[in-house]
Amino acid sequence: NHHLSVAIDGPAAAGKSTVAKIVADKLGYIYIDTGAMYRAVTFEALRHDIDLEDEDALQRLVGKMDIDLRAAAGKQQHVFINDENVTEEIRTHNVTNSVSIVAKHKSVREEMVERQRILAQRGGVVMDGRDIGTHVLPHAEVKVFLLASVDERAKRRHAENLAKGFDSDLDKLKEEIARRDKLDSEREFAPLVKADDAKEIDTTSLSIVQVVDKIMEIVKETE
Ligand code: C5P
Repeated sequence: NHHLSVAIDGPAAAGKSTVAKIVADKLGYIYIDTGAMYRAVTFEALRHDIDLEDEDALQRLVGKMDIDLRAAAGKQQHVFINDENVTEEIRTHNVTNSVSIVAKHKSVREEMVERQRILAQRGGVVMDGRDIGTHVLPHAEVKVFLLASVDERAKRRHAENLAKGFDSDLDKLKEEIARRDKLDSEREFAPLVKADDAKEIDTTSLSIVQVVDKIMEIVKETE
């Protein structure tokens, strides 16, 4: 088994983290959720009342943050800021709707990308995000771009929310997902875009298992 790098990019709520985690477990690779890193910075900034447009303040904050992603095989990934478990806190509505503002800043991205490259340097990684195939790991042997219609993505999130017993408004979810995609696609530095050499998978009418199988096929062709 070669130690490949697998880059999985795509818009919000396209199922990237779910399939990336399963693919990593199947390959015995480590899984790196780069969105969790931007979420951690956002959570910390909100907690310290930092203006999300203040790039210098955010850069100073990031400098003081150790962000640790701990993912054991078959288990949920846990996220720690300076050894504090913030796994649940980084998934709140408030963080989700602010993260694209924080993630647009060049100095924040540069620091995150540097850390992501260190985590990936030995290979044997599945990394998901927005700019992995284009920017973080441009030489990744496997690049996948996961797509699904906004309606389908909102429906999936809605079902997840209801299953967890959370309040959920389908139309609001559609709006928020579309807004996040727009901000992520239109930002100046490393925007969300499919890498030329990425394989596109439209998951709108596919199950999780079907998406995982397609990615595993691409990995096998590459090995
Ligand atoms: O993947 P997830 O939805 O958790 O990502 C949250 C946000 O983090 C994205 O909407 C985007 O603004 C930012 N992000 C990014 N680059 C990445 C991963 C996430 O800008 N590689």
